[in-house]
Amino acid sequence: GDVFTYDPGFTSTASCESTITYIDGDEGVLLYRGYSIDDLAEKSHFLEVCYLLLYGDLPTAEQLEDFEVRVTRHTMLHEQMQYFFRGFRRDAHPMAIMVGVVGAMSAFYHDSTDIGDPWQREVAAIRMIAKMPTIAAWAYKYSVGQPFVYPRNDLDYASNFLRMCFAVPAEDYEVNPILARAMDRIMTLHADHEQNASTSTVRLAGSSGANPFACISAGIACLWGPAHGGANQACLEMLREIGTVDRIPEFIRRAKDKDDPFRLMGFGHRVYKNFDPRAKVMKQSADEVLGLLGIENNETLQVAKELERIALEDEYFVSKKLYPNVDFYSGIILEAMGFPTSMFTPIFALSRTVGWISQWKEMIADPSQKIGRPRQLYVGPTRRGYVEVENR
Ligand code: CMC
Repeated sequence: GDVFTYDPGFTSTASCESTITYIDGDEGVLLYRGYSIDDLAEKSHFLEVCYLLLYGDLPTAEQLEDFEVRVTRHTMLHEQMQYFFRGFRRDAHPMAIMVGVVGAMSAFYHDSTDIGDPWQREVAAIRMIAKMPTIAAWAYKYSVGQPFVYPRNDLDYASNFLRMCFAVPAEDYEVNPILARAMDRIMTLHADHEQNASTSTVRLAGSSGANPFACISAGIACLWGPAHGGANQACLEMLREIGTVDRIPEFIRRAKDKDDPFRLMGFGHRVYKNFDPRAKVMKQSADEVLGLLGIENNETLQVAKELERIALEDEYFVSKKLYPNVDFYSGIILEAMGFPTSMFTPIFALSRTVGWISQWKEMIADPSQKIGRPRQLYVGPTRRGYVEVENR
């Protein structure tokens, strides 16, 4: 038969050509369309980064304004979608709600599901970027039994999201600009990361011609796992479980023990064999935010810093080139903002949506892309005769 290259986990297979994101894992470099993540996190803001990822260049002031108007015009969810939310149990994980509601968008917005029509593709992209914060915020509101808060289009993207999560209709709510800036930065840092598992899932789903809402729903499902986006929730829960600095060595020992399935969450990366550049910004941001909020003595942050220090000096982590990744410090910031851990991965999902949709658009426009169809090395039984049930 045919001979195939065996590459479990696709560690050495390029599945596409792309012009969106560049990673140099040895050097710890991450560029969106050629711009460094450090510059973008410091000088830009999320919607500008969305424009960059979607269209390839930083916008002019006029292009940015037009884009912001287009996005904010689509932030509302179809009123009927409320019934969809209400069908879930209150204790449903918000990621479960996200997978369901985003998949259902193809039923609510079927006028933007024809992938052969560039205009419909564009509308679908804008709709998803615009509505994802509303969906994530409503998943949260539903879980805490509070009324849904509608989007406010005079606010920037991050402030609007925070308000939809934390405002209660009968009370005044002022978005804290420090928190809005930190949220915006978290979104920028998560916006794209080339062919990671969830992005590859979106591309694979899209390669069959499935509609973009269905593809993004598949991406959200993939992101949920603790080896991927679910690591931010798992990491903060781990830091809480460690609790105090004196318990760190015990967890380091467990992470090194091959008979113990425990791994240090927020550590290690398939591509980065150096500090994850996003983790550097995130750490700085955590310090800044907690300082500005006057909670720099936060116990979780102390445990995280000490854990990082010990791990980076430990032979096991050094020799395997295991460094903190993007998920290591993000949870500390999100916790300080008042989010429960179950909302961490939905926030990753809403931030990554622009990356997924940019990659999907690139794939649809690429004539060399075919349906994704890996082969296998068959190692099962050879042909054998059928035996009737009474003779087995
Ligand atoms: N703690 C302890 N040991 C680890 C860890 C860890 N966090 N990560 C990797 N190792 C060890 C692993 O046991 C293996 O050892 P050996 O060679 O002796 O068998 C070696 O390092 C290589 O690991 P691998 O699992 O073969 O590497 P991978 O590229 O398949 O996995 C990873 C990458 C991110 C899934 C993994 O490092 C991991 O599980 N980390 C914890 C979860 C996490 O933080 N995920 C977030 C990734 S960042 C962005 C995102 O959210 O997607």
